[in-house]
Amino acid sequence: MRVAVLFGGNSAERDVSIASGAQVAKALRAAGHQVIAVDTFRGVLTDDEQEVLLTRGVAPDPPDERELHAVRTKTGSLIQPSYFIDIDVVFLALHGGTGEDGTIQALFSAAGICYTGSDHLGSAVAMDKDMSKRLLVSAGILTPRWLMAPINPDRAIGLLGLPLVVKPNKQGSTVGLTIVKDRSRLNAAIDEAYCHDDEVMIEQFIPGRELTVGILADQPLAVGEIIPKRSEIFDYQSKYQPDGAEETFPAALNAELTQSLQNTALHVHGTLKLRHYSRIDFRMDEQSRFWCLEANTLPGMTGLSLLPKAAAAVGISFPQLCDRICKLALETHKCRSESSFR
Ligand SMILES: Nc1ncnc2c1ncn2[C@@H]1O[C@H](COP(=O)(O)OP(=O)(O)O)[C@@H](O)[C@H]1O
Ligand SMILES: [Mg+2]
Repeated sequence: MRVAVLFGGNSAERDVSIASGAQVAKALRAAGHQVIAVDTFRGVLTDDEQEVLLTRGVAPDPPDERELHAVRTKTGSLIQPSYFIDIDVVFLALHGGTGEDGTIQALFSAAGICYTGSDHLGSAVAMDKDMSKRLLVSAGILTPRWLMAPINPDRAIGLLGLPLVVKPNKQGSTVGLTIVKDRSRLNAAIDEAYCHDDEVMIEQFIPGRELTVGILADQPLAVGEIIPKRSEIFDYQSKYQPDGAEETFPAALNAELTQSLQNTALHVHGTLKLRHYSRIDFRMDEQSRFWCLEANTLPGMTGLSLLPKAAAAVGISFPQLCDRICKLALETHKCRSESSFR
């Protein structure tokens, strides 16, 4: 198979995407495929440039706005390049922004190019936490109560209690998210979230355990538990710095709870019309209720990321996982091109 691994992008998760892209390219080569690595900003990379990326890691802080501005101006010209012409499938190793919110997916769909992961509709819905939660509620799936800014602080605290979680509506990697324990900090947290998105969510805080479920080809993988080591929540540093969090696959949950959580994750995946793979994040409270926080359509894809760990726990290696995702994309693409909607 000829695969173009597309990575970089222009969101605050650019660095994380570079790490995913470099590792996915390496894994797909190990699985026997012909691979080109394409940075949305720099174009096709040489082998030496890819080697540098493999050892680079993720910096402790996300890239700053000035750096991202330069990258943004180039992303639009992505679809025309000749290097996609002979490609069977584009593996999207992008995270956040236009790479994950359905924009790039719509461009590829329009161009008739086969790509991995959810289509533009599922991607857009999953990226918009407010929209996802409305669908989850309508499907009877438990999700923390929420309001959208602007809000009256007394009303928000009256409805949602304290602590509260303030987050940008369409970000990832915990960027711009604050746990507010004290009414006096609420406005500053909302201002901070507005630096990362034009919509801000205020959500009920769910104390308890943090669990995640990967989905591959409409099947749940092993449930994972995350215990952040440096902070009470799974923040940017806990996610990407070595030893930031303890991640256990499979999580210490009894069989009944494991199955119930896996079924809920599958229900979320279907409700949001996701495809090929996804990772669904939950909190579990003291009464063992599962609260869905969000669905990730393009979760981290380094060998040490959560979805690859969930796959490894059921015997699927990282190269096998990447290979499987490409094949799922090819099947969808083939079905789409052969079907006629009369
Ligand atoms: N309502 C909540 N209650 C408790 N913790 C939360 C809540 N919302 C977010 N968090 C913490 O913040 C992290 C990131 O939040 P999430 O909604 O998944 O956004 P992101 O898209 O940035 O990953 C979660 O993994 C969890 O640790
Ligand atoms: Mg999350």
